Amino acid sequence: MKIIAVANQKGGVGKTTTSVNLSAALAAMGKRLLLIDLDPQGNATVSVGIDKAAADATVLDLLVDQMPLKRAVTHLPQLALDCIPANGDLTAAEVALLSMDAREQQLKKALSAGDPHYDFVIVDCPPSLNMLTLNALVAADSVLITMQCEYFALEGLSALIDTINSVQQTVNADLKIEGILRTLYDPRNALTSEVSEQLYEHFDGLVYRTVIPRNIRLAEAPSHGVPGIVYDRLSRGATAYMALAGEFMRRQEQNRKDPS
Ligand SMILES: Nc1ncnc2c1ncn2[C@@H]1O[C@H](COP(=O)(O)OP(=O)(O)O)[C@@H](O)[C@H]1O
Ligand SMILES: [Mg+2]
Repeated sequence: MKIIAVANQKGGVGKTTTSVNLSAALAAMGKRLLLIDLDPQGNATVSVGIDKAAADATVLDLLVDQMPLKRAVTHLPQLALDCIPANGDLTAAEVALLSMDAREQQLKKALSAGDPHYDFVIVDCPPSLNMLTLNALVAADSVLITMQCEYFALEGLSALIDTINSVQQTVNADLKIEGILRTLYDPRNALTSEVSEQLYEHFDGLVYRTVIPRNIRLAEAPSHGVPGIVYDRLSRGATAYMALAGEFMRRQEQNRKDPS
C-alpha cells in the first residue's frame, strides 16, 4: 500500500481534479484505490458523486473519533474505488486536532490500523499548510505536487518543498516527492515554457512528461458527480489523465527496480 498526498498550498491548481481523475484512472486499470478527501470544501467528495451533506461517515470520524477505516469508507462500485468523504464539519476537526496528543499523527494511525488491501491511497489536501495537510504529509509515502505554470508558481513550489524538507527532518524521514504535475496547461502562454524550463532545470527527474491541458470537460464533470475521465472519456482532459496514470505506473515500476 502506497500513500500519496496531492498537495500545494495554493488553491485552484488542480489538486482535486488530479486526485479524483488519477484515482479513477488507476482504478480503471485494476488497481485497488482509496481516495481520501482531506479538504473541508469536500470538492473531491462531490466529484465522485457523494452527497457531502448526507455522508454517513467522513474523514472527521476517522481523524478525531478513531472510527475504523473500514467503517469510514464509502464504496463506489461504478468507479471501482473507495472514498472517505469530507464536508464542512472537517473545519472543526482541525481545531479538535490541535488539542490532541500526537495531533499530526492521526491519519497515519488510522491508515496503519486498517488492513492494507489497497494498492494506492490518494489524499486530496486542502489549499494550505495546516494541521490537515501536515497529517497527510506524516501519513504519506510521497507527495504529488500539482501546479500551474504561472508567475508565482515557483515561489509557491519552494515554500512547499521547504515544508516537505522539514517534515522529512522531523516526523517522516521517508517522505519522497512522487512528482510534479503541470495542470491547466496552456502552451500559448509564454510563461508556460519559461516555468517549464525552470522546472526541468531544478527538478528534472521529478517533472511528469504528461501535462494536463486546460479543458472545459474536466471543469464540467464535478457538477455531474463523475470524474472527467468518465464524463467524457475521449476529451483531451480525460486522455491526459489516462496518460498520466500510465506514466505514474511506469515510474512505480522504475522506482522498484532502482530505489533511491
Ligand atoms: N485541466 C483543467 N482544465 C479546466 N479546468 C480545470 C482543470 N483542472 C481543474 N479545473 C477546474 O479549476 C478549478 C480548480 O481546480 P481544482 O482541481 O479544484 O484545484 P484545487 O483542488 O487545487 O483547488 C475547478 O473548478 C476545476 O474544475
Ligand atoms: Mg481542492
